[in-house]
Amino acid sequence: MENNIKKILVTEDQIKSRCIELAQEITNDYKNSTVTPLFVGLLKGSVPFMAELIKHIKLNVKYDFMCVSSYGNSTESLNDVKIIMDLNASIKNVPIILVEDIVDTGNTVKAVKELLYNKGASDVKVVSLLDKPSRRKVNVKADYVGFEVPNEFVVGFGLDFAEEYRQLPFVGVLKEECYEVKE
Ligand code: IMP
Repeated sequence: MENNIKKILVTEDQIKSRCIELAQEITNDYKNSTVTPLFVGLLKGSVPFMAELIKHIKLNVKYDFMCVSSYGNSTESLNDVKIIMDLNASIKNVPIILVEDIVDTGNTVKAVKELLYNKGASDVKVVSLLDKPSRRKVNVKADYVGFEVPNEFVVGFGLDFAEEYRQLPFVGVLKEECYEVKE
């Protein structure tokens, strides 16, 4: 599997260190919150990032997950975002920290933010492991970003191609021939 990686963009150690920094920043920003903040992870890509980040948050927080449509077997982003699995509990007046693996076109984050506000969230901030600003199609940005990546298809640390490569402990660029054969 690792033979299919052209180059590593972010190492496991870099991810771990950056998660500690992001968690410190978030802890500081929410330390005076009177309502317990809720981290909402977008399945499935946010799982390793959520796990690494949350353990360094020095506050009383909760977490939950939602599932929205993603790429399927293609490397092109979808315009429409479909909710596949919603949150269970009410988020009325709850401050939300939306946890994403990558902000690419921005469609997903924009749509999910709107949805969370419609459900009554008092505030929605976004923390994303990766940001690919060169691909942005809508005006949205993450409040906390782990790493900016170039316009290349990346996998690992939760990011997949056709559901594979999510378990890699680093973020790398997939060799073109690996996704050309599956499309
Ligand atoms: P957006 O709606 O275009 O911002 O895309 C968000 C989702 O697309 C992310 O949560 C990922 O699941 C997926 N995605 C975007 N870029 C990549 C990539 O380079 N590799 C793997 N998945 C990606």
